[in-house]
Amino acid sequence: MFTKIIRPIFLGLILPASFATAGLAQKTTVTVHLDAGKPISPDLFGIFFEDINYAADGGLYGELIQNRSFEYDVTEQPTWNALSCWELAKRGGGDGGWSVEGARPLNSNNPHYLVLEVKKAGEGVGLINPGFDGIAVKAGESYDASFFAHQIFMNQRWGANSGIEGKPMPVTVRLESRDGEVLCEASLRITGRDWTRLTATLTPKRDEAAARFVLLANAAGGIALDEISLFPRKTFHDRPNGLRADLAQVIADLHPKFIRFPGGCLAHGDGTNNFYRWKDTIGPVEQRRGQKNLWGYHQSVGLGYFEYFQFCEDIGAKPLPVLAAGVSCQNSDHTGEVGQQCLEMADMPAYIQDVLDLIEWANGPATSKWGAKRAAAGHPEPFHLQYLGIGNEDVISPGFKERFKMIFDAVKAKHPEITVVGTVGPYPDGKDFEEGWKFANELHVPIVDEHYYRPPKWFLDNLKRYDSYDRRHSKVYAGEYAAHDGGRGVDKNTLRSALAEAAYMTQLERNGDVVHMSSYAPLLANLRHMQWTPDLIYFNNTRVIPTVNYYVQQMFGANSGDTYLATQMENLQDSDKVAISSVRDDKSGDVILKLVNNAPIAKALNVNLAGAKGLVASASKTVLTGEPAIANMPDSPQPLTPEVSSITVGDSFDYDAPANSLTVMRIKTK
Ligand code: AHR
Repeated sequence: MFTKIIRPIFLGLILPASFATAGLAQKTTVTVHLDAGKPISPDLFGIFFEDINYAADGGLYGELIQNRSFEYDVTEQPTWNALSCWELAKRGGGDGGWSVEGARPLNSNNPHYLVLEVKKAGEGVGLINPGFDGIAVKAGESYDASFFAHQIFMNQRWGANSGIEGKPMPVTVRLESRDGEVLCEASLRITGRDWTRLTATLTPKRDEAAARFVLLANAAGGIALDEISLFPRKTFHDRPNGLRADLAQVIADLHPKFIRFPGGCLAHGDGTNNFYRWKDTIGPVEQRRGQKNLWGYHQSVGLGYFEYFQFCEDIGAKPLPVLAAGVSCQNSDHTGEVGQQCLEMADMPAYIQDVLDLIEWANGPATSKWGAKRAAAGHPEPFHLQYLGIGNEDVISPGFKERFKMIFDAVKAKHPEITVVGTVGPYPDGKDFEEGWKFANELHVPIVDEHYYRPPKWFLDNLKRYDSYDRRHSKVYAGEYAAHDGGRGVDKNTLRSALAEAAYMTQLERNGDVVHMSSYAPLLANLRHMQWTPDLIYFNNTRVIPTVNYYVQQMFGANSGDTYLATQMENLQDSDKVAISSVRDDKSGDVILKLVNNAPIAKALNVNLAGAKGLVASASKTVLTGEPAIANMPDSPQPLTPEVSSITVGDSFDYDAPANSLTVMRIKTK
């Protein structure tokens, strides 16, 4: 009654047409041929960071003040203006007012600033900022407050005899609890009529989950204020203008081989005037040009290209910046009414130059025009940019094609060392997908980006998607994917979705000769500001909550390989839902097995390591298992996490893969 199945040498997954009588099932045999491998991409598992769900400002970016430069605007949210998130404080008999002005800005990229007029100082007149839903601070830790300021000639406003010209303005900066308890404070003086940066260190005396930043002027007179900032001293890798340490660490723990940024739809934006322009995001933060985020809020771009590249370097990931292909997001406005907009042809040469300049900025010598800007930011050595994304799931229109080709040709001509990643539309099939592939093949684009947000069943039904991809064509970057379990708006991060992704990832490894890169999407979500679910990591100001899908990504990311090992399986039943891949990490020599059992019963396996020499008997085993419907959501009482233990292995050994599980075995051969 049994059909012996031996799949072609590199096909690790079996969905057999054979069957077996219940109760007579033989043990499934898995044979991994340690001496029959094929090279696979060393950059297979990475991450995709997009500023969606407040992932940057109010998320990974360490800044604690919201609307620090008074640039919030009604075009970003209907109730917003330059004073949003700020409150006027009049303490202990103080009296005065404020206004947003623009006559003498800090610079043209930062056009608005605040003028504070203090008629009567009392116990202080000034500003309060609650940060992003409160400022979480820790006792004894240092927080760096800074702002730009100058005095205002009040005789021009209040009359010649105001009598206060030339006197410095004493100010206090504080952190307070919501009920006004002072947690820490520092005193400063604002002098002169030129914009000057003032700094102070604040050290709270106790923990507070939702503190407020307060700046009080303590004498009559006027001052101008801009770029009011508060950073924890402890950022990831102690970088100034750095990243929130706990969140960055959880991302680093994924062991991504690359980071794609800054989007997604954000990269090509809400119309051609809303492209993410990398040049606006480098240099001193107060000189960067923030803009509307098409996800419905403001991007300060304090987390800009320098910080993205630096983060990549800090965690050993390759940068994959994505630039608009000269066309905007076809979902501009989220109404679909605006549609894809194309940059005017007259603007294309300058745009193409921006693309080329990025490569020089990243890789050029410190003596080059753009390399010098990188060096001025503190990084004279090149960033070793290898990959460059052009376009994001664009509609493959004539306008797109024309502009993509212009950019692609220019990069190829000037920088043949750069690997361009193109795009084949928003979906894993259909018109744009077909057209995108045809176009990519015509142009010989090295890698194309495929996207799929689909139910878990789609992932399980498509476990052989890449087995038949033509190896002579472009390679694939599975740049955005996630198994959406439940339906739009109610999708949850269930184990069912995570295991469907895990099974799918075994085929990415098996096809790692044609699939070059992959990344789950989206990466981050601030629990109070979500535009998209499911996401990989949720957070609020005090907690970071990895999902069950996160652990799948981590188990693959931390256990990737350079060589796919031929894997054969014998004796499987129709009902088996087993997916397996085997790789070797050439550096350590470790052999790594990934076993996904999507069935509701355990699966008995006999594993043979053919051609094994010098195996260490004790291997590590990491297992993620539970009820498929378990949703590792932020409110879950007991989040599901993988368990690590050891297992005795040999040339041949038995393993019962638990029901609904992913197992990763790491076997030492040296
Ligand atoms: O990941 C969220 C969005 O999904 C991305 O911005 C876009 O590329 C895709 O439609």
